[in-house]
Amino acid sequence: MGRVSAPYAPDENDRALLRMLVQGGEVSGEAISRELNMSRAAVWKRIERLRGMGYGIDSAPRRGYWLTGDPLRADAVMANLHTRWLGRNMVCESVVDSTFKSARALESAGAPDGTVIAAGQQTEGRGRMNRTWVSPPDVGIYFNILLRPELPTALAPHLTPAIAVGVSEGLCDLGFAARIKWPNDIVIAGKKVCGMLLEMGGDVERLRFISAGIGINVLQKAEDFPEELREKASSLAMLTEGEPPPRSKVLCAVLDRIEPAVELCYRDYPALLERYRRHCITLGARIQASGGATLTGTAVDINEDGELIVRDDAEKLHVLRVGDVSVRGVMGYV
Ligand code: BTN
Repeated sequence: MGRVSAPYAPDENDRALLRMLVQGGEVSGEAISRELNMSRAAVWKRIERLRGMGYGIDSAPRRGYWLTGDPLRADAVMANLHTRWLGRNMVCESVVDSTFKSARALESAGAPDGTVIAAGQQTEGRGRMNRTWVSPPDVGIYFNILLRPELPTALAPHLTPAIAVGVSEGLCDLGFAARIKWPNDIVIAGKKVCGMLLEMGGDVERLRFISAGIGINVLQKAEDFPEELREKASSLAMLTEGEPPPRSKVLCAVLDRIEPAVELCYRDYPALLERYRRHCITLGARIQASGGATLTGTAVDINEDGELIVRDDAEKLHVLRVGDVSVRGVMGYV
């Protein structure tokens, strides 16, 4: 019987090489060989092996190597992460019904705090208020973060502003003017590019886990959104002149910022909330809230519980609870 070779798993040099390709676009063989301190032939051999593992890597003489398509692969993402615990256990699937379901299965199997499950497509993506989150193949980032915080169950909602701050800051790091629309939509140029939804498990006494589901629109074109959403939804590609950032880079950028935001939330929730307020575009805006009676007024504050305080035109203050109302700007979505 012939020898069966063990499946090849990316080593430290492969990860460094992937990092260069994800960050650098087109990278010359010479630059790789210099950076990794190996011969050009060894670089070529590694590229061949990575291709064999399914990475789309193209090359041309005098240009070098570059990633083709926009892969969302756990090893490519992890190679670029700067986090300590978030995403250090990562699973990427091509199609799932909903990453919420995948996260639940991983949770039951004992997956560690900070596990990330991402998918290229969802057939049953869930949005807030029982809506569907349209999740066509390979254009968005659909992922869940599993957290196992040592928090009283009543404080689980504190994680929502933390994740919103992290996503907003991560997108700002990539050069987008991202802001939070209360309670937790991420908007750029007045349109929603990301939504999130938190689910928790446990009972009144003990919080077992929090599963945060996040959907970021990256490569969608206007026609990829259902007609009724076109006026208020957008994608990073629609907001970028030239090439949008690769999805793996977007995922890294937001995870890199979510980790410190979550840590700040655990350590100093008032400070986190202050950061949330600074990112929140709803504060100071004229808004209209619906869900029960319609209310028009100015959003004046966000309280300790993450509730929105609105002053109506008769100077009366109203407290709007997350989940009870939907809020939009008087002049448009934001
Ligand atoms: C919203 O309606 O704004 C929340 C959208 C949340 C979508 C994400 S995509 C990944 C995760 N899995 C789901 O089924 N939904 C969330």
